[in-house]
Amino acid sequence: MNPIENPYRPGAGTKPVFLAGRDEIISKADTLIKRVKIGNPQRSLMLYGLRGVGKTVLLNKISELAETENYIVEQIEMSENDDFRKVIAGFIRKILLKINRIENAKEKLLKALGVFKAFSISMPDGPEFKIDVDAISGEADSGDFESDLTDLFVNIGQAAKEEGKCVCILIDETQYLKEKDMAALIASCHKISQKELPLVVVCAGLPSIAALSGDAKSYAERLFEFIPIKYLESPQDALAITEPAKKKNVTYESDAVLEFIKVTRGYPYFIQELGKHTWDLAHSSPITVDDVKNATATTLKELDNSFFKVRLDRAAGREKRLMYGMAELGQGPYLMADVAKKVGIKVSSLSPTRATLISKGFIYTPEFGYIDFTVPLFDDFLRRNK
Ligand SMILES: Nc1ncnc2c1ncn2[C@@H]1O[C@H](COP(=O)(O)OP(=O)(O)OP(=O)(O)O)[C@@H](O)[C@H]1O
Ligand SMILES: [Mg+2]
Repeated sequence: MNPIENPYRPGAGTKPVFLAGRDEIISKADTLIKRVKIGNPQRSLMLYGLRGVGKTVLLNKISELAETENYIVEQIEMSENDDFRKVIAGFIRKILLKINRIENAKEKLLKALGVFKAFSISMPDGPEFKIDVDAISGEADSGDFESDLTDLFVNIGQAAKEEGKCVCILIDETQYLKEKDMAALIASCHKISQKELPLVVVCAGLPSIAALSGDAKSYAERLFEFIPIKYLESPQDALAITEPAKKKNVTYESDAVLEFIKVTRGYPYFIQELGKHTWDLAHSSPITVDDVKNATATTLKELDNSFFKVRLDRAAGREKRLMYGMAELGQGPYLMADVAKKVGIKVSSLSPTRATLISKGFIYTPEFGYIDFTVPLFDDFLRRNK
């Protein structure tokens, strides 16, 4: 069918034509945004899930909700080697400058700017801050990131409140925060909520963020509601497949939908990818099971050569060996002891490789003693490409 009309959108953070199965989470986020706006603190959200389940799409949606409520919104995406101090400082600068123009700034915003200036001066290679305000020492310049970030957040919150504004900070790929940075972030959110200030932080990341937060601060779960973002279940999986086509007056035969679900296992990214190829290869509506089967071969070939391969190429030799060992055991989660046996190494000797695979975001610990892949269907890929 006409590829120009193709309604499927495989990508990273790309808004799907039909956002399936996330109404409850969106409604929670909406309530949070509205409550914080009227000074009613509420637990914020920490969205966690595997690669391609739709975390970034949800953060983008939350960003839209906050913008509708006139929040100042900044969305941060962390990468593996980022220094969180520097990254957040750059965004704080932007937020402060958005709260109000310097000429019109009231007392609290001027103070926040001065405190931020002192913070940037105290930070080696910090962001340049050429605004004409005097640095105010004594807050946010101790060199202890946890107390400095808390001071900064409080000052931003107080400035926003005085100027009648609200601030929403969205942090994606949160698993790349170091534990001490996570501790600083949680402590800062804690203070903000105690003081009922109009600043909200929503995080998203791989499943390891749950453990990272708990290790950083034992009270993390009282500040954040941890929401698992999962594959789509019936009937939302079928809707994610059929609804985009329906908008173009194209339908699926029912066994074609079943085949589609069998291949993608309800994972949003794979649904978009297979949907795209099925649409391009099918000749007419309704789409048949053979259309889906034909498209599956093309889709897998393309995923193997791009999506999966790019990821595998980031792994070092011994990391690859460990992952091939996992895949040979079938579907996860995998007991570490079984993986060790499979690759013929002692569990204790595997630990460093396991740790680098977790920090690179390849695997996570679903429960004590176990590991699993963060990319859905990665085990199938490794078995196909031994
Ligand atoms: N609820 C949904 N219904 C249908 N399609 C979706 C849904 N959520 C996400 N998608 C699609 O899935 C793909 C992946 O979404 P997204 O990039 O948000 O995933 P992610 O969880 O952030 O992945 P990663 O961990 O790799 O960053 C996109 O093409 C998006 O359009
Ligand atoms: Mg993402």
